[in-house]
Amino acid sequence: MKKIICYLFVFISLFDADAQKFEGLASTPPMGWNSWNTFQTNINEKLIRETADVLVSSGMRDAGYTYLVLDDGWMAMERDSQGNLVPDPKKFPSGLKALVDYVHSKGLKFGMYNCAGTLTCAKYPGTRGYEYQDAANYAAWNIDYLKYDWCNTTGITAKEAYTTMSKALKKAGRPMIFSICEWGVNKPWQWAAPVGQLWRATEDIYQVFDSVHSYGTWDALSVMRIVDQNDSLRRYAGPGHWNDPDMLEVGNGMSYAEDKTHFSIWAMMAAPLIAGNDIRNMTQQTRDILTNRSVIAIDQDPLGVQGFKFAEIDSLQIWFKPLQNGEWAACFLNRSSRPRQVYFNWKEEQVTDKLYGYELDRNKTHRLCNVWTGKTDGNTDKPLNTMLQPHEVIMYRLLK
Ligand code: GLA
Repeated sequence: MKKIICYLFVFISLFDADAQKFEGLASTPPMGWNSWNTFQTNINEKLIRETADVLVSSGMRDAGYTYLVLDDGWMAMERDSQGNLVPDPKKFPSGLKALVDYVHSKGLKFGMYNCAGTLTCAKYPGTRGYEYQDAANYAAWNIDYLKYDWCNTTGITAKEAYTTMSKALKKAGRPMIFSICEWGVNKPWQWAAPVGQLWRATEDIYQVFDSVHSYGTWDALSVMRIVDQNDSLRRYAGPGHWNDPDMLEVGNGMSYAEDKTHFSIWAMMAAPLIAGNDIRNMTQQTRDILTNRSVIAIDQDPLGVQGFKFAEIDSLQIWFKPLQNGEWAACFLNRSSRPRQVYFNWKEEQVTDKLYGYELDRNKTHRLCNVWTGKTDGNTDKPLNTMLQPHEVIMYRLLK
């Protein structure tokens, strides 16, 4: 009997050790680059190698963008005779292992995409029925991140399908971030915290500031429409389990002010920061936005609280985010297409995060570090009184 108990103990400890390897993979929101927003299925090993090089040379890796994620379209149209997924030999003639090794050699991590359905959204082979086999292959290829989509899933339920894949990844034994991508349709925030590290909160983003583009059966959402939806979900986010308002469109065609606003508000919402532009050809302005350390530090703050909309007055939004050590971030956002005056009296307004119980001490004087100019704009003794251009933000870190 004693022997059986002992074996049982060893078995449970081994199982626990495996589960523990997956702890702490995303104590702050994941950061990286993904191929979809710019390249869709037009991907190949040259693009990925060049992107890996630029992640390093642009300073993005050192700013935190460590995951390079290959989205839909990497695989051949058929599995092999043993049912294994194989990379498209035309796009990836050297095979995946060599590419993953190259990316790893640059100090980066490698992510891949598949789908819970029979086919991916772009109609490549999906994982349904092959969960454990695909997970074992990802582990053998040394993959670090899996984005798992939700097309062609008739007859299965999301919670079950994502739980199965999560178990398959754990069984495969290699720690991988599991990025749940079912667009918020099955309310993953209610069940996915133990299943994956991030879940898409909305349908796909597109590179417009404020409107909806209908594709008939689904809508692509602009930056501000996504913000509207993600805002209501803050109670569900925290270290290890993040709301994902989708990948970044910085550098993909919006104005400089709009790109800065998009990046600022993703940081205020503690969103995963997954760049989606062609970083090989980005402008200096785009690079400066993506690598702004002060804004990234607000996104990555270890307290892990998703910021909240404190007020909205005639298209002027005021956002706050409590940070570690009693500091705060504040962001004033002009959603309208007219210039707007901003007035905010720090001494009169009481900023409280009712959900998490943080309170900004208005009796103290906080220095205002303007995260976009890098300058100190005085302190909170004096009301903020400034003009914001259309779609522009002013964003501060309130120092202690
Ligand atoms: C869905 C996802 C996108 C992208 C495509 C790939 O639309 O939401 O992010 O992965 O599929 O086909």
